[in-house]
Amino acid sequence: MSDDEHPELDFDPLDPTKIWPPDQFPLLPVGRVVLDKNPVNYFAEVEQAAFGTGVLVDGLDFSDDKLLQGRTFSYSDAQRYRVGPNYLQLPINQPKTPVATNQRDGQMTYRVDGVEAGENPHVNYEPSSLGGLKEAPKSGKDHTPFVQGPVIRQKISRTNDYQQAGERYRTFHDEERDDLILNLVSALKQCDAHIQERMVEHFMQCDPEYGTRVREGLKQSAEKIMH
Ligand code: HEM
Repeated sequence: MSDDEHPELDFDPLDPTKIWPPDQFPLLPVGRVVLDKNPVNYFAEVEQAAFGTGVLVDGLDFSDDKLLQGRTFSYSDAQRYRVGPNYLQLPINQPKTPVATNQRDGQMTYRVDGVEAGENPHVNYEPSSLGGLKEAPKSGKDHTPFVQGPVIRQKISRTNDYQQAGERYRTFHDEERDDLILNLVSALKQCDAHIQERMVEHFMQCDPEYGTRVREGLKQSAEKIMH
């Protein structure tokens, strides 16, 4: 999706409960992940793996999605605590191309930025006349969104909470619908009647058949318990 206003959409594109319909916004290839072997040591290669939205390659950037912005801080913070401050130096997390950040020391450090490239390892600031690391030339144009107006905290407009859920329900085959209703009824039958009714109302708004089937399922399971 182009990074500008999209008044033509009936939902907020930064609302993470929505999908961007792929027929309107086809997926773009950004890379390739090859899964060709199993971990040899589960701890080293799985437990210590750290994925996060705060670690990006050049050419990718963050959107203004609030959830994404929260994750971008929180994953790296969690990983510095969970794995260790130098978690990015572990083979499982380390980029294949050396990355220099001028960040140094802390537990389990074994690598000093820029040494491979022959830079002065004693200088961890920039600029410097002593041959330290230099900022690499930018590989692309900076993202410079235009913003005007007050920045406020408020609920998004265009919440459109039911349309996509209804559309998804209608794409389901019969057996998928059966599974969905069974799952929902199994979970909801444990709830108080007023909670069940509220949930049914939500499903009703997505699609009347969807709501009716959950309501019927709950009724039948209640009758079974009575007998
Ligand atoms: C679109 C919404 C989100 C998705 C798809 C998502 C997905 C995930 C996944 C798949 C994991 C890994 C779970 C695992 O290792 O078993 C994870 C972990 C985590 N998530 Fe989220 N998450 C979302 C939102 C958030 C938000 C809003 C926050 C906090 C502001 C958050 C904080 C975390 C943290 C701290 C971890 C553990 C990271 C680590 O120690 O490696 N997530 N999330």
